[in-house]
Amino acid sequence: MRYHVGPNGEGKRRPGITVRTMEIDDLAPVFHLGEELFTAEEVPNLYRTWDEFEVVGLFTSDTDYCLVAEEEEQGRMVGFALGTTITKSGSAWKYGHLVWLGVDPAWQEHGVGSRLFNLLRDRYLEAGVRIMMVDTEADNLPAIRFFRKLGFGKPSEHLYMSLNLSGHRAQSHRGHEEGR
Ligand SMILES: CC(C)(COP(=O)(O)OP(=O)(O)OC[C@H]1O[C@@H](n2cnc3c(N)ncnc32)[C@H](O)[C@@H]1OP(=O)(O)O)[C@@H](O)C(=O)NCCC(=O)NCCS
Repeated sequence: MRYHVGPNGEGKRRPGITVRTMEIDDLAPVFHLGEELFTAEEVPNLYRTWDEFEVVGLFTSDTDYCLVAEEEEQGRMVGFALGTTITKSGSAWKYGHLVWLGVDPAWQEHGVGSRLFNLLRDRYLEAGVRIMMVDTEADNLPAIRFFRKLGFGKPSEHLYMSLNLSGHRAQSHRGHEEGR
């Protein structure tokens, strides 16, 4: 649906947005929007996978940090933020990790992500969180610009390395067969 409003006010106006805590009925819509946004090619993430367990797990363990944005006309869910908190042993500091943030492509660049972020930040503040953390792929420029605009800085590089175990598997299989 297009929401373009012409110079004389013609066209359809974009409905308002409400941001609230996620509820059980939001699980499926959030999961399916995430499936659209977090495809393995476009937003690869080696240490977390977008699947049913990820959504249900965060919703169960961190309900207060699972938020959705819905448009006020039809009550359709148009964005979500799923976060958690981390307390490190030996440190009094509590960290807030925004794990997944997604906005329906038809609603991107209209302030929905910022609204979700602002409510999550307020919830973290109430809970005594001192530092918020996010991570994204180095080439996800919209997300990097988005996080910078919201005040995130000091990006630190993290290098993923991989070892292909298929050669080792064949070797270890032969070893077992030879009784080694
Ligand atoms: C990143 C994302 C959540 C931003 O949500 P959004 O609702 O479009 O963001 P907002 O409209 O609140 O934008 C706030 C600011 O972010 C920046 N920004 C957002 N989208 C941008 C884009 N496509 N290109 C450049 N800057 C962008 C702008 O500075 C913008 O401020 P402005 O409107 O004053 O220019 C959204 O693009 C998205 O869902 N991306 C796919 C999933 C993803 O990559 N998630 C992040 C990692 S988990």
